[in-house]
Amino acid sequence: MKVAVIGTGYVGVTTGVALAMSGPEVTGVDVDEEKIRLLQTGKSPIYEPGLDEALVDVISRGKLEFTTDHTVALLSAQIIFICVGTPSDQEGRADLRVFKDLIDQVHHLLCHDDDERILVIKSTVPVGSNDQVAELFSDCPQIHVVSNPEFLREGSALQDSLQPARIVMGASSTQAFERLEQLYKNIEAPRIKTSRLNAEMIKYASNAFLSMRISFMNELARLSDKLGTDISIIATGMGLDSRIGPEFLRAGLGYGGSCFPKDIIALLSIAEERDEPLTILYQVAKVNEQQPTWFLQKLEQRLGDLANKRIALLGLSFKPNTDDIREAPAQKLLTILREKEALITAYDPVAMPNMQRVLSGEQVTYTQTPYEAVNASDAVILCTEWGEFLELDYERVYHIMRKPLIFDGRNALPHSELGKIGFEYVGIGNQVGSLV
Ligand code: UDX
Repeated sequence: MKVAVIGTGYVGVTTGVALAMSGPEVTGVDVDEEKIRLLQTGKSPIYEPGLDEALVDVISRGKLEFTTDHTVALLSAQIIFICVGTPSDQEGRADLRVFKDLIDQVHHLLCHDDDERILVIKSTVPVGSNDQVAELFSDCPQIHVVSNPEFLREGSALQDSLQPARIVMGASSTQAFERLEQLYKNIEAPRIKTSRLNAEMIKYASNAFLSMRISFMNELARLSDKLGTDISIIATGMGLDSRIGPEFLRAGLGYGGSCFPKDIIALLSIAEERDEPLTILYQVAKVNEQQPTWFLQKLEQRLGDLANKRIALLGLSFKPNTDDIREAPAQKLLTILREKEALITAYDPVAMPNMQRVLSGEQVTYTQTPYEAVNASDAVILCTEWGEFLELDYERVYHIMRKPLIFDGRNALPHSELGKIGFEYVGIGNQVGSLV
C-alpha cells in the first residue's frame, strides 16, 4: 500500500513518519522546495522531540521519501492524506484557499483514473467542508472521501500519532472504513466511525472544550487572587473528581499555539453564520485574550511605570518542548512591554530564532543563557515552563537581579523555596506575596 501525505507541517510530517513506522511506504509532498530538501536529509523543519531520529530511521529503511512533485506522488498512491494548514482569515474564519486549490488539483488529476483511492482529510476544516469535497468527487465514485481529524499535541506529536487517544473516521462508504482500518491496523486506539460532519465537529468541540477548561481556571485564578485562595490546590482538588479529571486545569498566561486560538475563532464564526452563537466559547476567547494584560497589570502594580524597567522573559514558545511561537502569550507580553517602553531581555532554549524573526529592535535583547537574561533585571517573568527554568540556580539568579522579583506566569516554580532565598514571588491565582 502506498500513501501520499500532502503538506509537511506539524501534522503532515508527523503523520508521514508515524505511518511509515507502522507499515506502508509513504511520500511526503510540499510546494516548499527548501523544506523538502531539508526533510530529504532527515532533518525536521520544526523542533519536535524524537522526530529527527525517527525521520532518519524511516528514510534510511526506504519507507519514507519527500518530493515537490504532486503528480507522481498522487498517481502512485492508494491513500492520500491532506494535511495542509487552514489558518484564520481576516474575519477569523478558516482560510481554505490552499486547501481548496489542492482538492481541485487532486480531483483534476485522479477523477478520470479508474483506481480506487481514499482521500483522507486531516486538515481542520469547517463542519460541512468534507461533505462538499465528497460532493465534488461524486462524479468519480472510485475515490472515497474520509474525514480523519488529528489530535496530536506539539511537543509530543510523534508519540500522540503512534499512540492516539482515539481514531476518528468520518465517511459514507464501508470501503473507506475498511481501507483506513487496514492502514491503522498496527495502531491500538478506540475507533469512532461516523459521518464526516460528526468527525469534523469532534475535532472543533474537543479543542473548544479544552480551551474552556483553561479559561475557566484562569478566570477563577483572578478571583483566587482576590480571595487569597490557591488555584493550583483548587485544581488538584477538582481534578480528583473522576467526572472532572486532572488535565487542562492549569491556570497561567493563557492558551496559545497553532490550534486552540484559530479553531475557537473558526467555530465561533461557524456558529454565528448559523445564527446559533456560542456565548460560552465567546467568553473563553475573551478571557484568554485578556490574560497577559491582566498579568502585566500585576507587574505594574508592583513596579509602577514600566518605562526603562528591565524585564527578563524566560520562555518564548507557546508551551515547552516546541519552538512554535504562534499565538504564544510571550509574544503578547513582548509587544505590550515594548509599547510601555520597558527594556526587555529574553531567553528560550529553542524558540529565539522564531521570535527574533517577528520581534526585534532596540528594546529587546535575546541572550545566550537564562542567567544573561535575568542579569540586572527589575523583574523576571516566566512565560513558558521549560524544565530548564525549573532547575535554574536561583541563589545565583537572586544575586544577579537588580530586584528579586519573580512573576511566574505558569505557576510552575517552587514558590516556598524561592521565598526562602529571598525572592518576592507573584504567581497566577496563588497570592503568596513575599515569603521572606
Ligand atoms: C492542541 C490539542 O491538545 C491537540 O489535541 C490539537 O490537535 C491541537 O491543539 P497543542 O496546541 O499542541 O495541542 O497544545 P496543548 O498541549 O493542548 O496546549 C495548548 C495550550 O494550552 C498551550 O498554550 C498550553 O500552555 C495551554 N495550557 C494547557 C494551559 O494553559 N493550561 C493547561 O492546563 C493545559
